[in-house]
Amino acid sequence: MHIPGHKGGLGAPSPLRDFLGKNAFRLDLTEIAPLDHLLTPKGIIKEALDLASEAFGADRTFFVINGTTGCILAMILASTGDGDEILISRASHRSAIGGLVLSGASPRYIESRFSWEFGFALPCTANQIKEKLDSFKGAKALFLTSPNYYGVTIDVSTIVSLCHERGVPVLVDEAHGAHFIFHEAFPPSSLEARADLIAQSAHKTLSSLTQSSLLHFNGGLVDLNRVQSALQIIQTTSPSYLLSASLDASRWQMVNFGKEEFSRAIELANFARKELNQIEGISCITQEQISQMGDFLLDPLKLTINFKNLGVSGREVERWLREEGVEVELSDPWNVLCMISIGDSPKSVERLIKAMKRALRKKWRKPEVVSEIHSMKIPGIPEQALTPREAFQAPHRLVPLKKAIGKISSEIVAPYPPGIPVLCPGEKIEKEIVHYLEKIIKLGLVVHGLEGEEEKWIRVVA
Ligand SMILES: Cc1ncc(COP(=O)(O)O)c(C=O)c1O
Repeated sequence: MHIPGHKGGLGAPSPLRDFLGKNAFRLDLTEIAPLDHLLTPKGIIKEALDLASEAFGADRTFFVINGTTGCILAMILASTGDGDEILISRASHRSAIGGLVLSGASPRYIESRFSWEFGFALPCTANQIKEKLDSFKGAKALFLTSPNYYGVTIDVSTIVSLCHERGVPVLVDEAHGAHFIFHEAFPPSSLEARADLIAQSAHKTLSSLTQSSLLHFNGGLVDLNRVQSALQIIQTTSPSYLLSASLDASRWQMVNFGKEEFSRAIELANFARKELNQIEGISCITQEQISQMGDFLLDPLKLTINFKNLGVSGREVERWLREEGVEVELSDPWNVLCMISIGDSPKSVERLIKAMKRALRKKWRKPEVVSEIHSMKIPGIPEQALTPREAFQAPHRLVPLKKAIGKISSEIVAPYPPGIPVLCPGEKIEKEIVHYLEKIIKLGLVVHGLEGEEEKWIRVVA
């Protein structure tokens, strides 16, 4: 006589039950005695977590059922407090800014180098981080992202050494790198570098269900109790057993079949990269090209297909591919990003290559729009007038984007994808940023954080 109300599916809406099948409901349970509790695990969930920490090589691993977003909120909340300085890469996912609002920490942003060659922001480097560590000696933590969305990683182990020498914990957003530990052809994982806290979207590159992520902890600089408390704050008290079970099953799959499954996926991705590179005018980014930009490694499963030389935008190609029946992971003005996983097959890869050839043959370009996109200058980090938390808590009002120049943003404003903020709460809205956003909107990209019809309004500190 307990929740959930569907009682093992008996009371579930029949169309949903017919579609999902009975077992999905039988697994959708609540925390009755033998089933343990995700937030205070002592029994079978504790066992599953111990197996996960052994498989991934962390001191402790937590299942997080509200995504890497939840992991990132918990990492920042656990390691910084009101007014603490945190070094943070500007190319961070918007959830990191959410973490700053929750913890009250004051960000010291590390500028992201934008690659005009590739059309995306590169991860910040060990040299940039060293400079910041020297400038902000009291920093309480470093937050960085590796790999970036496009699969480009930095040398996290050097960064961890630099930070640990100074007693600064390293928090890594490894949302796109949960698979790294399971094959030697992948770039090294932050787990091997013994970063202090590592967030991974198992649902992105492994095969657990959407929303299920992993938070890994390595002892030394961060208090484990604070991590557990933070996870209790940001997670539901009714965690989904479906999601938790999918994380456990994914760990089992990786331990038993990860190496061979990923060998197959890497072979498929390498084949696709080679074939795509033979299509005239397009370029599928390689490790050799990435190495020319610095000490970066590329996840072989990420296919960043660049259309700069064709004078066509990635957004346009995404639409053409959709018409050909292929959905991609993301597009931006320069690229289309596809990711290969253990769920791919020679057939799915062939379909992509054929669709690409057909799309590029059939359609043609709009050079005037494209040249406008490619010549756009991405604005630099604006002046920070308030901390993200101060700005979030202050009274707000909506103003038209055009009238926002000189005001303080109370929102994260991020063109999506890839979701890197051009404005964070507390930052001054400069003319250059307004012009950039207007252009982005005109070109049809989604901008998170703007409001109203055609996203022409912005929320500012009143
Ligand atoms: C770099 C990065 N970090 C964090 C996240 C958030 O992950 P999740 O969707 O698992 O909450 C994303 C999502 O796309 C991401 O790209």
